[in-house]
Amino acid sequence: MNALSLSSHAKINWVLRVHPPRPDGYHDLTTVFSEITLADQMDFSPREEPECTISGFFESVALEENVIYRAWLAVRAVHPEVGGLHVSVRKQIPMGGGLGGGSSNAASTIKALDKLYGLNMPLTEQLAIAASVGSDVPFFIYGGCCIGQGRGEILTPVAGALPVPMVLVMPGHGISTGEAFRRLDSVERETGVTEIDSVIHALRTADTILLAEAVVNDFDRTVEDEPWFRDISEALVEAGCIRALLCGSGSTVAGIAREHNQLESISARLNSRGIYNYQSASSLWS
Ligand code: C5P
Repeated sequence: MNALSLSSHAKINWVLRVHPPRPDGYHDLTTVFSEITLADQMDFSPREEPECTISGFFESVALEENVIYRAWLAVRAVHPEVGGLHVSVRKQIPMGGGLGGGSSNAASTIKALDKLYGLNMPLTEQLAIAASVGSDVPFFIYGGCCIGQGRGEILTPVAGALPVPMVLVMPGHGISTGEAFRRLDSVERETGVTEIDSVIHALRTADTILLAEAVVNDFDRTVEDEPWFRDISEALVEAGCIRALLCGSGSTVAGIAREHNQLESISARLNSRGIYNYQSASSLWS
């Protein structure tokens, strides 16, 4: 059995509408999300011992809470023939950044186990295992661009989305997803009409101006009064972005650029404002 290396990409939600809590505590969503160029590099190798070990990962995460480990357990629960695994992660996606890094790593682990152990799992089986690990994991099994419903696991792939240029600014802290949902439930808000058609049209025609007008994230309400969010959003627009958008449940803030060739000057202007914790990225073709 050979080793396997995969790029495990982050995501951005162009639309993220959160509906009232369900009896099981989860929230139904209406979302449109795309994989983006920012990625962790993951090296997978089978192990003799029936264990999963992970290196290069932030030590603050207990093994049992690590979604890579949980993905390995979930695959083994269905396929007991799956043996041990060592995973080495070169982490680029910030944790607690709302970019889906953990979910993406979990999906990559399911795909890697499928290949390394010759499981030939059908897509439906991979999706079911992914949904048992976390709400955003099935999206990363598909990748590309998808409409998400339910708690994020009911997916409709969107073909023909073109790359959108952006700059991602990471504040110095992460936000826990569960905590962000609880905060959202505690604030007054209206669930507006969800205009996903214009977002999808904008993605298919690379119309970044239309996209900037159409994007919406209900989690804005949880951070709009926070100075860090206002400062970063203002800096992104002053640097030349046409729209600042909170990523997922936060804390990363994305600045949508009009054209790819503007990313350099936007970066220079962010630097001149003393903002260095940013990364240029773009969504992927779908
Ligand atoms: O599914 P996952 O483990 O990634 O979700 C983390 C937490 O985020 C859940 O425990 C839940 O509190 C919240 N969540 C939610 N509705 C969703 C997705 C996540 O309330 N659709």
